[in-house]
This record gives sequence, C-alpha cells and structure tokens, in this order.
Amino acid sequence: MFLQLLLSSGLFMSELAIGTSFNSTQAPTGFPPCDALIQAGLGKSILLPTEPSYADRVDSYWSLNSRQHPFCIVQPRNAKEVATSMTALLGADKAGDWHIAIRSGGHNSGGANNIDNGVTIDLMHLDQATYDKETNLASVGPGAKWMDVYAKLAKHDVLVTGGRDGDVGVGGFLLGGGSTFFMGTEGFGCDAVKNYEIVLTNGTIVNANDKENSDLWLALKGGGSNFGIVTRYDMEALPNTKLSYKLRSINITHAVQIASNFVDFTDNYEKFTNDALVLYLTHNATIIKESMVGTIQVNTQGKINSTGFAKLDKIPDIKPAPYEHVTLAEAAAGSQVAGGVWMCEATLTFSNTKGLMKKAINMHEQYVKDLKKAIGEENFTTMFFFQPMPTMFGDISKKRGGNMIGFDLEEKNSVLWTAGVEIKTNQQDRIYAQSLMNKMAADLKSYSKSVGGATDLVYLNYADTTQDPLGSYGANNVNYLKRVAERYDPEELFQTRFPLGFKISSVDS
Ligand SMILES: Cc1cc2nc3c(=O)[nH]c(=O)nc-3n(C[C@H](O)[C@H](O)[C@H](O)COP(=O)(O)OP(=O)(O)OC[C@H]3O[C@@H](n4cnc5c(N)ncnc54)[C@H](O)[C@@H]3O)c2cc1C
Ligand SMILES: *[C@@H]1O[C@H](CO)[C@@H](O)[C@H](O)[C@H]1NC(C)=O
Ligand SMILES: *[C@@H]1O[C@H](CO)[C@@H](O)[C@H](O)[C@H]1NC(C)=O
Ligand SMILES: *[C@@H]1O[C@H](CO)[C@@H](O)[C@H](O)[C@H]1NC(C)=O
Ligand SMILES: *[C@@H]1O[C@H](CO)[C@@H](O)[C@H](O)[C@H]1NC(C)=O
Ligand SMILES: *[C@@H]1O[C@H](CO)[C@@H](O)[C@H](O)[C@H]1NC(C)=O
Ligand SMILES: *[C@@H]1O[C@H](CO)[C@@H](O)[C@H](O)[C@H]1NC(C)=O
Repeated sequence: MFLQLLLSSGLFMSELAIGTSFNSTQAPTGFPPCDALIQAGLGKSILLPTEPSYADRVDSYWSLNSRQHPFCIVQPRNAKEVATSMTALLGADKAGDWHIAIRSGGHNSGGANNIDNGVTIDLMHLDQATYDKETNLASVGPGAKWMDVYAKLAKHDVLVTGGRDGDVGVGGFLLGGGSTFFMGTEGFGCDAVKNYEIVLTNGTIVNANDKENSDLWLALKGGGSNFGIVTRYDMEALPNTKLSYKLRSINITHAVQIASNFVDFTDNYEKFTNDALVLYLTHNATIIKESMVGTIQVNTQGKINSTGFAKLDKIPDIKPAPYEHVTLAEAAAGSQVAGGVWMCEATLTFSNTKGLMKKAINMHEQYVKDLKKAIGEENFTTMFFFQPMPTMFGDISKKRGGNMIGFDLEEKNSVLWTAGVEIKTNQQDRIYAQSLMNKMAADLKSYSKSVGGATDLVYLNYADTTQDPLGSYGANNVNYLKRVAERYDPEELFQTRFPLGFKISSVDS
C-alpha cells in the first residue's frame, strides 16, 4: 500500500512536471516531433534553435558539410531515453516531409549525421568507457570520442581497437568497420565487438552477440546504420602496450620509391603483423608550394625500428623524426585533423601493384594542378591516403566471427585509396572540387580495370554519398543485410524515417 502510494504520487509529480510547468524548453515549439519529445518527458533533453547551446552543438560538427539546423536536437541520457525518443519521433505527425538524423562523434564528412528539415538524435551523453576484468570486455558508448575512450580505459591498463584520429567518434566508426593500427593482428575495429546494445524501431532495446540475435550481430559488423540506434558496443580489450610511433614528412621526389616500399610491405604483411603503415600525399600551400609524402609508421608492441620499415627508413625525412614510445591515448590526442572546412571525399580499392600506385600518385599531382587553376592553391589542402588491405585482414575477421565488409571475397592483396580535400572558401568550390574528384576516382577505377587490377571494396567510412559501399560487399552480403533489416525493422521505418547514410534498401540486389 505504502509502495503503491509512493509510485502513484511519483507518477503524479512527473505528469505535473510535463503538463504544467512550461518554461522555455518545455513550451510547445510549433514542431510536432519536438512537441512529441516534450510530451514523452524529454523536454529537458532537447535543444531548440533559440538556445545558445544549440548553435554550439551545430558548430561542433567536424566538417561544414554537416552544420545543418534541425527543428530541435534531442540528447538522450541513456538507452531508455533513446528508445523513448525513437518511439516519440516515429509516432509524431509526419506532415511536412521531415526526417530523423543520428549523430555520434559527428565526424562523418558528407553530412549524413544532421538534417535541416527534421530532428537530430545526438548521442553525446552516451559516452561511457568502462572495463570488466572478468570478461575482458570494454563497454563503449557511441557518443564518445576515441581519445577519451583510450584515456578512460588506460586507467585499467587496457585499450580497444578504435580510431587513430582522437576526435573521431565511436558510433559511426564501428558501424562502418573501423580501420585501426591493429589490423595485422585484430582485423577491423568491428571484429572486436562481442555485443551490441541496440534500440529497434519498435522501441525495444536488444542485445546482439553470437548467441542472442546473432544474425544482427554479424550484420552490424560493417553493415552501417541500417537496423536501429546502437547504444553500446562491448569490445574485447587488449593490454595497453605503448606503441612505437612516428609521423614522417618526405620530399615528393621520393613518392614512387616509397610507393614501391609500400607494395612490398603489404605483400609481406604476415611477417610484420604488429606493424601498421599509412602513406599519404598532401598538398598544403600554407606549408610549402609542392606536394609532400607523409607516413605514419607504428609498431603496436612498441618495437622501435621494426624491420618491416627497414627499407622505408633509408629514405630521408625532410625533418628527421625518430620513433617514439607513446600510448594509444597520446597518439590519438596528438593526431586530430582540424575541422571547420568544407570536405570532399572519395574512396576505392585496387590491387597492390607498383603500377597502380604510380598512377594514383600522378593523378594526385594532376588533381592539385587542376584545382589550383580553378580555386587557387591557398584555398585547399589535399590528403590522399593509401592503406594496406592484404587478404590476411579478411582471414582474421573470419576467425573472429566474420563481418559484412566481405573482404574475403577478394583473392588478392589490395590498397585502400582515399582522397580527401579540404576547401576553405565556399560550398560552390566544394561542389566543383568534389565533381573533379569523382571524375578522378572513375578514371582510376577504369585504369585499374584496364590493367586487370580492379577490386570491389568501397570502404564505407570514407565513401562519398554518390558511392555504394554496401553494394561493394557482394550480392550474398547485400541479400543478407536486406533480410536482417527486414527481420528487425519489418515496417522499414529505419530505412525511410532515418534516410541519411548508406541504406541497404536502396542497394540493388
Ligand atoms: C579526420 C578523420 C580521420 C578519420 N580516421 C579514420 C580511421 O582512422 N579509420 C576509419 O575507419 N575511419 C576514419 N575516419 C572516418 C570515420 O570512421 C567516419 O567518419 C565515422 O562515421 C565517424 O564516426 P562518428 O561517430 O564520429 O560519426 P557520425 O558522423 O556521428 O556518424 C556517422 C554515421 O553513422 C550514423 N550513426 C552514428 N552513430 C550511430 C549509432 N549509434 N547508431 C546508428 N547509426 C549511427 C550516423 O547517422 C551517420 O550516418 C576518419 C574521418 C576523419 C574526418
Ligand atoms: C525548465 O524546467 C526544467 C524542469 O522543470 C528545469 O530543470 C529547468 O531549470 C527550467 N528552465 C528554466 C529556464 O526555467
Ligand atoms: C625536394 O627535392 C627537390 C629536388 O632535390 C628540391 O628541389 C626541393 O627543394 C625539395 N623540397 C623540400 C621541401 O625539401
Ligand atoms: C596545412 O598547414 C597549416 C600550416 O602548417 C596547418 O595549420 C593546417 O592544419 C594544415 N592542413 C592540414 C589539412 O593538414
Ligand atoms: C633506431 O634506429 C636509429 C637510426 O638508425 C638509431 O639511431 C636508434 O638507436 C635505433 N633505436 C633502437 C632502439 O634500436
Ligand atoms: C582564394 O579564394 C578567395 C576567396 O574566394 C579568392 O578571393 C582568391 O582569389 C582565391 N585565390 C586564387 C588564387 O584564386
Ligand atoms: C520488436 O521487434 C523485435 C524484432 O522484430 C521483436 O523481437 C520484439 O518482440 C518486438 N517488440 C515489441 C514490443 O513489439
């Protein structure tokens, strides 16, 4: 009786709070979905355009492409409030053709994480990183940034296989796969996920792992934002060993020689599984007028001068850079590409050959020349990345339960090529630079086909909105993803009401 009284008076109080104490955040907003959130008791968790923190939140998106202005931003505090948001928004009046966006770290550069005509669910408060020694699992929230995850887990002397740039978020990164320093021993970032907690469109919160909803577990590994809102990732942890780490700048005249070393490195990856190599070409006229080559050379077990890099290390640096021992947390915090610019991006893979690497280098130089002519060299910066994709990464993924990236389909060692360009001027210049980039990517693709060196994978985390990463996973995986989406979201609400990002319903089977 006493308990009943307590419960009912508690209910009464909360109804009163919703119903009568209107203040600036709780008065009707004029936007049905925002009012539906208030009705559902989330008034305290929404930001309206009239509030100063709303503008700060919009400005905190990494690229200018993403700084849209939703009717309101809802910031749920836990999985239950994510479920309440889901139910309230899907139940709200659909008039006005509005839609829903999801944001975790906000690093997607193509604008798939925010919306003008609709509501954005911002997962910033789901930013936990805890560790359970018993299970060796780290539980990581989607809204956390990797550098904060590493710093928190370091207190337990463990790490997880996440992003290299510390400002990147957990949520989007792991849904797209996750390219990390640990691929030679651990596969993709998502291969470490033993359990996902996810809010489905019918408002239920479920776990997906190898025993429970195992089809969903597999689909979530690389399958992108297609099934619901992930509210927690439980990842297998590794000891927090210091990395051997160096970032180099090398004269562009050595580009072809470095590319040749890169190809040898990739073909011999099984001998140096603790090494990670990222190669990039950059043109940044605020530093020097010519392009430069950069490398990131890492040994995840802290081995200085790993023999995997022996040939590369014979090529001189512009400014000598020794290997250093750093924690993953330090490396991530020290490596944050500044945002606040318009971004263009495109990605593809090709066979690991010197000829194709050379072609890609020449195409970068041509791209720089063309863009200089069009918008002026001080108005843009290029960063074109090359990452090893040997078949052994696919073998590791398979051993850990498999993923959707379907890299095991490729029977040859490949290179993951990613073009990135920052535009400092305006949207018009961005559109021009992106179209020029799409043409270059198409040319590189057809050249690779002409020499028998085309491979299928379009890596989701780097893909432009005009590309089809899910389709690149192959027909079997596409059909699998479609079946799983249908099973967990039979009304296709996630496909239609959350239209941003790469949706499996728009991929041809
Ligand atoms: C400077 C820079 C460095 C990068 N480095 C790497 C790297 O080393 N390796 C790599 O693999 N990638 C890298 N990326 C790409 C990065 O992985 C993607 O941009 C990724 O989407 C970022 O995750 P986020 O949480 O910040 O994304 P957000 O922009 O918040 O989200 C990305 C997409 O996922 C959806 N989404 C996010 N969270 C959820 C969720 N919980 N449930 C359902 N859907 C969700 C969003 O709606 C959106 O469509 C880098 C990008 C940049 C700009
Ligand atoms: C609005 O109401 C909420 C809940 O009652 C309260 O926490 C908040 O401080 C109020 N804000 C203002 C500006 O009055
Ligand atoms: C790169 O090498 C060329 C040829 O040796 C030289 O002219 C140029 O100044 C070098 N650039 C830098 C940045 O060191
Ligand atoms: C280009 O160089 C400037 C000056 O050193 C630096 O501030 C900026 O971050 C660089 N841009 C990129 C994308 O690296
Ligand atoms: C690594 O190589 C550099 C350059 O040859 C040398 O100076 C340094 O002592 C080496 N460090 C270790 C730990 O072997
Ligand atoms: C760079 O952009 C600014 C602003 O649009 C423009 O005034 C300038 O002419 C551009 N530089 C060149 C060399 O075109
Ligand atoms: C929600 O959907 C899941 C997956 O289809 C189903 O298992 C669950 O029973 C549904 N829950 C409710 C309350 O309808």
